[in-house]
Amino acid sequence: MEREQKPGRRALLGAAALGAGAMALSGAGTATAAGTQTAPNAAAGTSGRGHELPVPTVIGHRGASGYRPEHTLGSYQLALDMGADIIEQDLVPTKDGHLVCRHENDITATTDVSAHPEFADRKTTKTVDGTKLTGWFTEDFTLAELKTLRAKERIPGNRQRNTLYDGRWAVPTFEEVLQWAEREGRERGRRIWLYVETKHPTYFRKLGLGLEEPLARLLRRYGRHKKDAALFLQSFEPSSIQRLRKLVDTPAVVLLSTVNSRPWDFVEANDPRTVADLVKPEGLKWIASYAQGIGPDLSVIIPRTPDGKLGTPTSVVKDAHAAGLILHPYTMRNENTFLPADFRRGSDPNAYGDAFGAFKAYFATGIDGIFSDNPDTALLAAADFRK
Ligand code: G3P
Ligand code: CA
Repeated sequence: MEREQKPGRRALLGAAALGAGAMALSGAGTATAAGTQTAPNAAAGTSGRGHELPVPTVIGHRGASGYRPEHTLGSYQLALDMGADIIEQDLVPTKDGHLVCRHENDITATTDVSAHPEFADRKTTKTVDGTKLTGWFTEDFTLAELKTLRAKERIPGNRQRNTLYDGRWAVPTFEEVLQWAEREGRERGRRIWLYVETKHPTYFRKLGLGLEEPLARLLRRYGRHKKDAALFLQSFEPSSIQRLRKLVDTPAVVLLSTVNSRPWDFVEANDPRTVADLVKPEGLKWIASYAQGIGPDLSVIIPRTPDGKLGTPTSVVKDAHAAGLILHPYTMRNENTFLPADFRRGSDPNAYGDAFGAFKAYFATGIDGIFSDNPDTALLAAADFRK
């Protein structure tokens, strides 16, 4: 790959972006022979100079969703036990305003709601961020009702093994995750990092279920509202990050989908800018005025060729670093079907391909971290890269 950067340089850039906050120091983690990783500087506490994140940082995407149904305490626990540096939560609200961990408000695919006759009449059709959906939605359930459901594997066709765990866990509230992280932190003698996304914030605000205020209240209640908090906020809607940053000082990252897309809040506000505009130096400078990083789709970092292979890296890593932003792109998954064509192995779309090869190519661009459904693979790849 061209423009290969050394880990130390990326670490310093990350540290600069986060200032006295969550400073990321290269090689700070310890990779073990088992492929797990221990965070150093145990009990870094809230001194204002958190130092515990290695670079490249491994973010357990929806927990360890390559191995367990996503956004369950079982998925989060496995990611943590594997050694993920940060564990991700996506948040949506219930009818009574509680924040729960789901990738989307449509819970048809990730819970057993369709098997509950008492909720049959809740099935409905809605338009969410311009997309018409038919199913069951969190905003139509109280938390007590939602807690009667059980989580299940989203993509059983790809991940049949994960269906073994269908029904084992409930849908967690974000407060339960904060309590779990506190408990784990006490037992492990270090802070447990979380990466928290507001989902469909404009849509929910229109329903009177704004996400940012209850999220900020929870962050304050659990001491994660300061600039050195062990937590990144994230959203695909820049206005949600701007709103959050008025409420708390927690570090924040603006997610960026594919280059031709527009954030949904831009669509609603008639703001013509696309992701392609936001990753230009002027757009990055604008993001850096209120956020500490960007979380782009991997294709923004290395576009794919027409035949699905990795193409030539863009200048986005260099430009974002120049603007003082860190980069945590998404999402690496081990299965062939999700990998670039040049890293697939064999003809089974659900078999693992050369994930290590793909990680190496992405890390070589100088990114500061990566979201992965397979934290154990990502941790080994990151340790290889730091050698
Ligand atoms: O938040 C990073 C990544 O998770 C964004 O994609 O759709 O999986 O939430 P999504
Ligand atoms: Ca997410």
